[in-house]
Amino acid sequence: MLVVVHEDYDAMSKKGAEIIASRIRRKPNLVLGLATGSTPLGLYKELIKLHKNEGLDFSKVTTFNLDEYVGLPPEHDQSYHFFMWENLFKHINIERSHVHVPQGMYGDLKISSFETDPKIQQFCSWYEDEMLRYGGLDIQVLGIGGNGHIAFNEPGSSLGSRTRIKTLTEKTVKDNARFFKTVNDVPRYAITMGIGTIMEAKELLLLANGDGKADAVKAAVEGPITAMCPASALQLHRKAIILTDKKAAGKLSAEFVTYG
Ligand code: F6R
Repeated sequence: MLVVVHEDYDAMSKKGAEIIASRIRRKPNLVLGLATGSTPLGLYKELIKLHKNEGLDFSKVTTFNLDEYVGLPPEHDQSYHFFMWENLFKHINIERSHVHVPQGMYGDLKISSFETDPKIQQFCSWYEDEMLRYGGLDIQVLGIGGNGHIAFNEPGSSLGSRTRIKTLTEKTVKDNARFFKTVNDVPRYAITMGIGTIMEAKELLLLANGDGKADAVKAAVEGPITAMCPASALQLHRKAIILTDKKAAGKLSAEFVTYG
């Protein structure tokens, strides 16, 4: 695991984009795993710049997103489909058919049957198979939750878990309420790649910025490998890079850190 600390968010984002761009130049049909949230926004802006100014070519790239809410249509402004098109896909030359974001809508399926209905489980198996059909993820971009979560794998998620439906914790529902009209509008379920799925990516690129991530980064890098800090699984990965700003690295011991 390589931890590279940057002066600030912009420098971290630039480095992240350089890494992705170098992988695309080396393998134009890269299979790229993507994340949503505030952390990768700067990285996506930099990738858009590289596309517009330097002709970085996404035409052969295939993407798979980590997660999506269940029950939100793709055009909903809080869906991860919408987020990805607004913040990246519509600005680059990616083929619509190469984009994969987990399906959030399942016809008129009732919320009470979300966890048991075979349609959702079938979708999750299909998503895993589809990644394999493309040869697996070459590189997966990750953010980290303040509690160490990756994707929607909250503390306690099995380190071997696969793509599946997860119930959001009350805390996550409350945290996300600021993006919706009322707390009752916040989806209660999400589909997420599992920790086992993420760990099969050939390379992992986790970004973290701000004081609010310092405890989680320390636990992920220096703590024991435990389901109570899902990001600690990255210690077992043979090619995991963590990019941070100074604040998110604020609690790390010197021996774990390289400066970028
Ligand atoms: C998003 C995701 C989440 C976020 C994490 C950090 O697809 O999987 O795990 O990466 O919650 O969110 P931000 O970046 O908003 O702090």
